[in-house]
Amino acid sequence: MPDAYLLGIDIGTSGCKSILIDHQGNVIGSNVQEYSLLTPQPGWAEQKPSHWLSGVYAGIRELLAQTRVRTDKIRSLGLSGQMHGLVALDKDYKILRPAILWNDQRSVQQCQRIYEIVGSVENLLGLTNNKMLPGYTGGKILWMRENEQELYDKTRLFLNPKDYVRYELTGEIATEVSDASGTGLFDVKKRCWCDPLLDLLEIPRERLPKCFESTEITGHINKRASELTGLPEAIPVVGGGGDAVVQTTGMGLVVPSILGTIIGTSGIVALGLDKFEQNPDGRLQVFCNNSVDTWHAMGVTLAAGGSYRWYKDALCQAEKRMAEEHGCSVYRIMEKNATAAPPGSKGLIFLPYLIGERCPYADPNARGALIGLGLHHGRSEITRAVMEGVVFSLKDVYELIRTMGFSISQIRTSGGGALSPLWRQIQADVFQCPVTTVSGSGEGGAYGAALLAGVGMGIWGNLEQAVNVLKVETETLSDPKNRTVYEDMYGVYRELYKALKPSFDSFALADQNISLP
Ligand code: XUL
Repeated sequence: MPDAYLLGIDIGTSGCKSILIDHQGNVIGSNVQEYSLLTPQPGWAEQKPSHWLSGVYAGIRELLAQTRVRTDKIRSLGLSGQMHGLVALDKDYKILRPAILWNDQRSVQQCQRIYEIVGSVENLLGLTNNKMLPGYTGGKILWMRENEQELYDKTRLFLNPKDYVRYELTGEIATEVSDASGTGLFDVKKRCWCDPLLDLLEIPRERLPKCFESTEITGHINKRASELTGLPEAIPVVGGGGDAVVQTTGMGLVVPSILGTIIGTSGIVALGLDKFEQNPDGRLQVFCNNSVDTWHAMGVTLAAGGSYRWYKDALCQAEKRMAEEHGCSVYRIMEKNATAAPPGSKGLIFLPYLIGERCPYADPNARGALIGLGLHHGRSEITRAVMEGVVFSLKDVYELIRTMGFSISQIRTSGGGALSPLWRQIQADVFQCPVTTVSGSGEGGAYGAALLAGVGMGIWGNLEQAVNVLKVETETLSDPKNRTVYEDMYGVYRELYKALKPSFDSFALADQNISLP
């Protein structure tokens, strides 16, 4: 189908990305419109949905101006978005309060209460195959009912972020299976809202949107959105996906033998599943995937690239000055330093639990640490240890996925961390597996969303065909001689969380934090 273009929009946490791809998967243009995060109280994270909308409208306009494609050649649009958020709309579908985001921790007590209401964690796993993590939508709905009763009573609809944008673009109230999975209120096995759970929690079913599969058409660009974006009316909008799921689709993770790792601010380790699998002790997130009858297992670590950025800002002033003098990126100088240290960083280990952890330990009290420091360590070893510690934390998640009985032949990586050749080599050596990057994956969820848009319009017969457009851009092979050092270091890394847990809890007690079960 020559001259067919597809739009992908990702409602991220720091900004909204708009991309246009052609029918061969080439990115024709992209831009990011940034917006801010509101933190009205410690541990809270909110955003104004109107900022997402301004970002989407401006992003699409800029994309059309930049690429100059004929708008009648744009076949469809796919949405991706930050998962687990809560957007509350009143009877006229007007916003009632700022959206509560995925990284907001206010609903810890409500999540505990949900376990009590259903009887146990195991009972909840039996209903949804997932725990109710404090970031998830379900706990937030209860928080609103308990703390903002007046607003709660006025609420007609609870939506996830990208589904609110869908409403404004099309006038349709809809979600799709991957984002719905992340509400914690969804029967992931049957791919529908979990009515028994909604009954127990007394959440009226009609306050949740109708749920589609990710490639189904959910609506069409309406007149108002057409005027605001420059897109023709009636362009179809497909279901799309929650960002953590759809970005792995954009990396080609549609068969179970490829493991995906994403080093963004957080770290994601994910595997596509061709049948429903039980979530091991609820420690992973097992969600519906973007193809019918496929699922997705993943674990999210909270500070992957975030640890490296923290280290740069807190301790790399000298590297920053050097980068300014040489007119290059500070990350380049840091990478050069880290490369000078040997694998294993001469026995130095970094624990990346800078903002607590989600997987494999759901522990808000966990803290970061540098263990093993000696006089023989300098900048190079510390920088490399931070990179290695992040990869060990990804391996921890992989070990959980492995308990489900999977073996892998390849790792695909993306996110800012995938741009670093050293970080790719560390991944290949720690996992002892080839690591590849593919075209498009640098565009995050927006790329996967555009592929879903293409499948929805029949440009590709299914997602397996769609991901054939991906081209391998880099391949990093593991170095067998680094195997032993990393096996030994990882063995020590695994012991450290258990050993330090009492100290983490003491620090948290001092901060008057609340501990999860
Ligand atoms: C996934 C998750 C994040 C958010 C924000 O479970 O919490 O990836 O979707 O991007």
